[in-house]
Amino acid sequence: MEILRTIPEVRAARQAARGSIGLVPTMGYVHAGHMALVQAACAENDRCWATIFVNALQFGSRQDFSTYPRDVSRDLTVFKDAGVAAVFVPEADAMYAGDHSTYVHVEGLTDRLEGASRPGHFRGVTTVVCKLFNLVQPHRAYFGRKDAQQLRVIQRMVRDLNLPTDVVPVATVREPDGLALSSRNVHLKSAERAAATSLYRALQAAQQRYAAGERDAGALRAAMQDVLAREPLVKVDYVSIADDETLGELAAVAGPALASLAAVVGSTRLIDAMELGA
Ligand code: PAF
Repeated sequence: MEILRTIPEVRAARQAARGSIGLVPTMGYVHAGHMALVQAACAENDRCWATIFVNALQFGSRQDFSTYPRDVSRDLTVFKDAGVAAVFVPEADAMYAGDHSTYVHVEGLTDRLEGASRPGHFRGVTTVVCKLFNLVQPHRAYFGRKDAQQLRVIQRMVRDLNLPTDVVPVATVREPDGLALSSRNVHLKSAERAAATSLYRALQAAQQRYAAGERDAGALRAAMQDVLAREPLVKVDYVSIADDETLGELAAVAGPALASLAAVVGSTRLIDAMELGA
């Protein structure tokens, strides 16, 4: 496995690479959710490339950035064992010049949900993902469905900027009790870990009400709130029943819709999402 640290190294490796490339962008501290992306990228392309970069531009607070879990040497071993052909692990100054002043911003879709709670977050995500796409020029790039808004924002960026990369969504990987895998789960203390399953249970409650014929979005949101309200360690940021494409909040569900939520459990902010009827 090639380990690439600088932009000239990536460009040279890309020029030498033959066949199709499937890219898995990550911020490291990889878990089975990332490895599902790697597995799909390896299966559907001649080569799988991954990136590990904790992108300060997408973090609101300095503290969240500095406490984000990191273990690059373990990540590299796991990627190598999984058959990843090359990993790009840049330092921050390799990615952003000191006077960097160019950003990619998807309007509208980024104002709501995570965008409302974390101003500037998606501008950081789309800027770094666009740079990674420019550098690696992947045929396909793999993103998890748990980060449902991120997936839609990146799909929109690719469409609007005519980027020649197919964005491939991959199903959320969950613990046996339903908790969606996330690098941030490592911060959960034992009681918080138990309470965190309420995010999945809340989504399931909405899914079950929907399957039983409920189409009033307010009632579906209330079903999620009811589950979360029973957990004193969980502070809800938002619960949402939104149009699957625009992510605008719905009054009634008449087509493809996304149930999503964000909550702080102890001091760890978690998100999860489920497509209704899926
Ligand atoms: O989902 C993530 O881990 C990050 O937002 C991404 C896509 C790697 C960009 O930094």
